Amino acid sequence: MNKKIKHAGALTAGIALTALLASCAVGPTPAEVDAATAQVIKSSFREQGIAKMDRLNLDASNQACSDSEGRPLDDKLAKAIEEANLKTVKLPADGKYLGNWAEGEKIAQNGRGLTWSDRPGEANGGSCYNCHQISKAELSYGSIGPSLYNYGKLRGVADPASEASKPIVEYTWGKLWNAKAYNACSGMPRFGHGGILSEQQIRDVMALLLDPKSPVNN
Ligand code: HEC
Repeated sequence: MNKKIKHAGALTAGIALTALLASCAVGPTPAEVDAATAQVIKSSFREQGIAKMDRLNLDASNQACSDSEGRPLDDKLAKAIEEANLKTVKLPADGKYLGNWAEGEKIAQNGRGLTWSDRPGEANGGSCYNCHQISKAELSYGSIGPSLYNYGKLRGVADPASEASKPIVEYTWGKLWNAKAYNACSGMPRFGHGGILSEQQIRDVMALLLDPKSPVNN
């Protein structure tokens, strides 16, 4: 009697294990999990105002960074992404890189833009303080990105129009235009490439960072 019960118990456990193994073998593949996840995300959002569903579409660069799940990308892939993004950078047509730092400070402070409650055609802000310290006068800032206080000064930009300053001026423009040009999986918005800031707004933010008269460099 006792033996029979034991036997029955072992049999039940065996059946359960077989069922578990079978369920593992026919369980969803990673591709199926991805598809199901995409479906859940898609069904969790709806269009409203200027915010359309195309926001959920990743471009090839974002897709590669998403697929890597936080692990560093393979060097070759990272280089290819950076090269492709660098190609999108449009330098200012008139060769003028710097605008007005006071306007730049307003743009850096402004966190509005691109949400369903923003009106079409309204200028966006840069939200720079969400991630960076910039001017010392602003005490509230995020620290996801490096401090940009003394940005131009620390890089020896005494005259932004000089030949000597050209590499750092061009790099900064490129970084603002498309942050992935220099860091494949950068978490910084691609301001020019994404149409978030206009060329003139980027000039003004450039002045905030690089104009020797800007409070950032004083
Ligand atoms: C969502 C966060 C985020 C926002 C918003 C953001 N950045 Fe960044 N930024 C970063 C991160 C993270 C880095 C460092 C990693 C990298 O280089 O991509 C960075 C790097 C930079 C660099 C390069 C610094 C260096 O020493 O090379 C500059 C310049 C810069 N940001 C300027 C800006 C400006 C100006 C704005 C607003 C127009 C802005 N960022 C908005 C996250 C952000």
